[in-house]
Amino acid sequence: MKNRDGNRIVLAILIVVFAIYNSIIYTKNTSASSAPLLSKKGIEGEKIWQKNNCTACHQFYGLGGYLGPDLTNLISNPIKGEEYAKAIFNSGIKSMPKFNFTTQEKNNLISFLKEVDRTGFYPNKNVKFKSNGWVSIKYK
Ligand code: HEC
Repeated sequence: MKNRDGNRIVLAILIVVFAIYNSIIYTKNTSASSAPLLSKKGIEGEKIWQKNNCTACHQFYGLGGYLGPDLTNLISNPIKGEEYAKAIFNSGIKSMPKFNFTTQEKNNLISFLKEVDRTGFYPNKNVKFKSNGWVSIKYK
């Protein structure tokens, strides 16, 4: 009988600790900022991206459809970039459909692609293998 009471007490303590632990974890402000990742124009651009299902054929960070190329670093690509992208949007190329975006829509899409580009490199070739076995990766 005594042993059972002991078990109950331990169980009760565990439940209380669990409740306190959870209330701390789920109510504490995390360090992740709640600032929007995209600007207003970027958000408008993302809407166009989603509405026209660009992801069906294109990828960011290698994720998406594989009919067209990855567009993560299109804007910072010295050979391609903004003007090149704008030209492609409305002319189409091979199996890429021709869109009829207004100048504003094209600018918003560019803002979106620019802001995605700022988040990192894909594929990330700025990797150094150190002699101690660690890998150092350079991010944007
Ligand atoms: C049906 C598939 C498809 C859809 C949908 C599509 N694309 Fe494409 N896109 C392609 C293909 C295929 C290419 C590459 C053509 C080639 O071989 O040069 C391409 C190329 C591009 C390029 C040039 C990339 C480069 O590196 O040269 C840009 C920019 C682009 N697409 C943007 C978009 C945007 C923005 C959308 C949505 C509004 C979109 N595409 C929707 C198939 C698609």
